[in-house]
Amino acid sequence: MPLDKLKVLLSREQIASKVAELGERITHDFEGESIVLIGVLKGATIFLADLARQISLDVSFDFIAVSSYGISKQQSGEVKLNKDVDHSMEGKNIILVEDILDTGLTLTYLKNLLLGHQPKAVKIAALLDKVSRRTQPISGDYVGFEIPDEFIVGYGLDFAERYRNLPDLCILETDDQSG
Ligand code: IMP
Ligand code: MG
Repeated sequence: MPLDKLKVLLSREQIASKVAELGERITHDFEGESIVLIGVLKGATIFLADLARQISLDVSFDFIAVSSYGISKQQSGEVKLNKDVDHSMEGKNIILVEDILDTGLTLTYLKNLLLGHQPKAVKIAALLDKVSRRTQPISGDYVGFEIPDEFIVGYGLDFAERYRNLPDLCILETDDQSG
């Protein structure tokens, strides 16, 4: 069992105030409209739960699940759909809610998938953005924090399914960086 080192990058207070700000922007941008928050399981669940409560609109939830092939912290570039949305998204204002925009492969895939439903709009809310890692021409509409290329856990984000319950966003340093 390796000894993982955790260092707080963004505190729960910093996260809460940013999420409130994003919620206000979404409320303002979609004034008078209904929206559907589509959470990308499982990393986005905590962000979605907090964000939803900062939005004063008619909001419904849906969830989608994907897996990116690859081992450990490395992404391989292939995205597989494990769970589709439960409802038709035709004519809906969709906000895709994701924990982190990294290479952009996941959100590029999901955005294209949802555009196939003929929605009214598709926007992206990403709590974190590792801009330097991007390989796809995609950006978030509601981005919490731009961060350096470090591996982050907590507030929904995991390493091998662990650490999702940490209230702060932490940098994870393991002995074995390759997996
Ligand atoms: P992308 O498809 O490369 O943009 O990767 C997005 C997905 O990779 C996220 O939904 C996360 O599951 C995962 N990911 C990327 N960076 C991190 C990280 O620093 N910590 C935890 N998961 C990450
Ligand atoms: Mg994820």
